[in-house]
Amino acid sequence: MKRREFLGSCAALGGAAALSAMEEAWAQASPKRYERARLVDARGRPLRARELAAETNFVFHYPYVSTPCFLLKLRRPVVAPSTLKREDGAAYAWTGGVGKERDVVAFSAICAHRLAYPTREVSFIRYQKDRSSTSSGAVIHCCADHSVYDPAQGARVVSGPAPQPLAAVLLEHDAATDELAAVGTVGPEQFEAFFEKYAVKLGFEYQGKARQPVGERSEVRELAAYCRQTIQC
Ligand code: FES
Repeated sequence: MKRREFLGSCAALGGAAALSAMEEAWAQASPKRYERARLVDARGRPLRARELAAETNFVFHYPYVSTPCFLLKLRRPVVAPSTLKREDGAAYAWTGGVGKERDVVAFSAICAHRLAYPTREVSFIRYQKDRSSTSSGAVIHCCADHSVYDPAQGARVVSGPAPQPLAAVLLEHDAATDELAAVGTVGPEQFEAFFEKYAVKLGFEYQGKARQPVGERSEVRELAAYCRQTIQC
């Protein structure tokens, strides 16, 4: 539906409140740009896509200092766009992988079920390379309640209680330098719910600055280096 048609159908509803709510839904289904953050390694050097180990969990924070994301190099290129749906039914497009091989993707690491996320102490959610007794391999699996997402299809829900996909992080890839940057998100952001649920914990950890934008650069670390214990299931 084109925006003009959309607004026309809103007008037919005849209420300013309805118009406002639907316009908000439209805005949320569109890609959302944030400040561009170059992805860097532990020494602050620009990270190159070719340096990423395949099928390995990497974590960075975006668009806020406290909101974790996964950076993954998948088994194969992801060139086909996926159309996904949020819990409220709004559709959005995810354009696939970036990099020379189109195999690099990034998603919010905040589970769409009950907002489990990788902390410095423990992570219940992670990319799972191999098949296990509870799911197939090559998926993002949250062991808290077994929500499973397919990173090759925009982190759509494969199984489990999650009502919607993980939000995708929009990446830019510089073909000349092979460097990566995060520039926005598309899909069901859950940042407000995340800030609300973990207000006390985040308040201590980030000294009241959990909502601070990550800024011009974001450090990428292996999950195994970032988090003391990763739960397997
Ligand atoms: S919090 Fe991830 S499956 Fe429940």
